Amino acid sequence: MDIKVYKMPTEIIMGRGASEKVGEKVKELNAKKAFIATDKGVVNAGLLNGIIESLKRENIEYVLFDEVESDPGIDMIERATEIAKKSGCEITIGVGGGSSMDSAKAVAAMVTNEGKIFDYIGIGKIKKPALPIIAIPTTAGTGSEATYWSVLTDKKTKFKTGVGSWYLMPTVAIVDPLLTKSVPPRVTAFTGMDALTHAMESYVCKAAQPISEALALHSMKLIARSLRKAVANGDDLDAREDMIMASTIAALAFNVTRLGLAHA
Ligand SMILES: [Fe+2]
Repeated sequence: MDIKVYKMPTEIIMGRGASEKVGEKVKELNAKKAFIATDKGVVNAGLLNGIIESLKRENIEYVLFDEVESDPGIDMIERATEIAKKSGCEITIGVGGGSSMDSAKAVAAMVTNEGKIFDYIGIGKIKKPALPIIAIPTTAGTGSEATYWSVLTDKKTKFKTGVGSWYLMPTVAIVDPLLTKSVPPRVTAFTGMDALTHAMESYVCKAAQPISEALALHSMKLIARSLRKAVANGDDLDAREDMIMASTIAALAFNVTRLGLAHA
């Protein structure tokens, strides 16, 4: 075997109710004010309640930005970055699907780096460390909580691309199955298939290595036993737990191997 590297700098906190630890983590990271990137769907579903309570318990101030759009656009990222800068936020927290987490990553990087986010398309272009990032998924699919990618779109040219950098790795990922309980069956199915595809593409890709293979295989096993159950009965917490673990674990695999043609 050639020499392989498996790198994973993110602290992962997982389990039912884990998202209520966010305040303690922000405090541990010495940040006094947090920028929360999310969308109105997450707010209306009440998924932020426990998170905000947790921040308040630790006297952490926060700015709530609930205008994240699906397929985050560069204009929205600029607007959000302005708000984060002006209000003196020292950490970003993405709560939602991939779009919210990717927005939190992009804002964290653009607070500390010059220019526009599209200047950094590709891998390893970001020059300075970003603000600390906490990623809290509310769907079991994208795995953005454990990857160094932020996927962004230029809405004018309809060009969708990615910025990849170790500086975009979440400092902390909080994986809480309770946040996925209200995801409707259709979205549960689609996001679950996304996670399955991540695991499969990573497993068969040329860059696969022993550690990524072990992760990808375990992810597929969890999805095989629980995706249908999570779609059929959203209240099945064991199935929800398997699915969000599988999604994060697949990301731990594909973050080092990258994906295949299906994703390209
Ligand atoms: Fe995907």
